[in-house]
Amino acid sequence: MATEEQRRDSWPNRLRGAVRVLLGRTDIAAAAGGALPAIDRARTHPQGPLIEALIGGLPGAAIVLDRDGGVIAFNEMATSIAPALRRGEPALIALRMPELVDAIRRAGKRREPQRVEFIERVPRDRWFEAFVTPVRLAAGGDAHSDILLMTFNDLSPLRQVEEMRADFVANASHELRTPLAALLGFVETLQGPAKDDPIAREKFLAIMQGQATRMARLIDDLLSLSRIELNAHLRPNTPVELAPIVRQVVDGLQTLARDRKVEIKVTVPPEPLIVLGDRDELVRALENLVENALKYGAAGKRVDVTLTRAQTRAGTPEARIAVRDFGPGIAPEHLPRLTERFYRVDVADSRAQGGTGLGLALVKHVLNRHGGRLAIESTLGQGASFNMQLPLRTDSSAASSE
Ligand SMILES: Nc1ncnc2c1ncn2[C@@H]1O[C@H](COP(=O)(O)OP(=O)(O)OP(=O)(O)O)[C@@H](O)[C@H]1O
Ligand SMILES: [Mg+2]
Repeated sequence: MATEEQRRDSWPNRLRGAVRVLLGRTDIAAAAGGALPAIDRARTHPQGPLIEALIGGLPGAAIVLDRDGGVIAFNEMATSIAPALRRGEPALIALRMPELVDAIRRAGKRREPQRVEFIERVPRDRWFEAFVTPVRLAAGGDAHSDILLMTFNDLSPLRQVEEMRADFVANASHELRTPLAALLGFVETLQGPAKDDPIAREKFLAIMQGQATRMARLIDDLLSLSRIELNAHLRPNTPVELAPIVRQVVDGLQTLARDRKVEIKVTVPPEPLIVLGDRDELVRALENLVENALKYGAAGKRVDVTLTRAQTRAGTPEARIAVRDFGPGIAPEHLPRLTERFYRVDVADSRAQGGTGLGLALVKHVLNRHGGRLAIESTLGQGASFNMQLPLRTDSSAASSE
């Protein structure tokens, strides 16, 4: 025979206790006639099916509770926040977030709408705001007429943008602060100890010029990036032939190639390949790729720049410009992050070469705007290949751009 204490500690009683805590109510046992809440409230609640149909049409997650904290209805999206939701069971079992449980209790007690924010940690960090709103379905004191409507907004995309913006400002100021500190240091030295030393002055002025050029380049790159982003939704529509762009970029970088003792081999097809694009942006993007190959892949002594006609997986014609070097290559863990702003595999090496880590971010944005993409392949120790893929102008794309 169960003792009085065991009976008090039985799981139905513990559940009832929990629901009581949840709603701050003591009359639950009486309301439920001493038994646990019914098994399926969507069926037993008079408005259950109607409520279910209504919240099924909402754009975000929604859960409806009865006055005892039992689940009447929930929509598909609510299951991604609380997979253990079951109709007829106390919400407390499925909603493990203390902030939310608190808000439900407050809304039930004060009959006032509540707003809370909470974080879901598993399977990944997601931020939500929840609104818990008491609703009276009918006048009078019918036990079924008071319900709680809970709706959720996923704040994660907003938070991610906020974090990115904060990171971006921190990175940009850091990149500017370093050359600025160097400049100020040299100005002080030139005003003080090196005042009358013409040799030191020459040397310091050259360094100062280098630092100032770096700052100017960083600002230039930042402005280009934001301009390209602003126009991201506008597809450029001027026909541009690619072979002359390849030649122009390679010619412009011959001095750097000679400095680094690298030979650039250019291959272009005999037929003209034409895309709808912005010539300056395409030049800038390709310049970044060839310059990277010369800077980071110089050890390979050779860079191949190859323009070819190809096809996407869907069968549409595209142009590919592959920039292949035979340098140290890039470890696989870095590949997915290379196009992030300020991301560098070796920060010191990049800085020493005057880099700011914005080049590949710029390339990616330029290609996105052109409806193309950047594919990066690399095996450590065997060089890297950066491929610009651009949709070729077809008769229909030419016509639609006119
Ligand atoms: N061909 C390559 N071989 C090896 N590493 C590369 C190559 N191209 C790029 N990287 C790595 O990717 C990083 C990011 O390149 P990105 O062009 O975005 O910036 P950066 O060259 O450092 O600076 P910026 O282009 O603004 O002058 C580089 O710092 C370098 O570590
Ligand atoms: Mg670069």
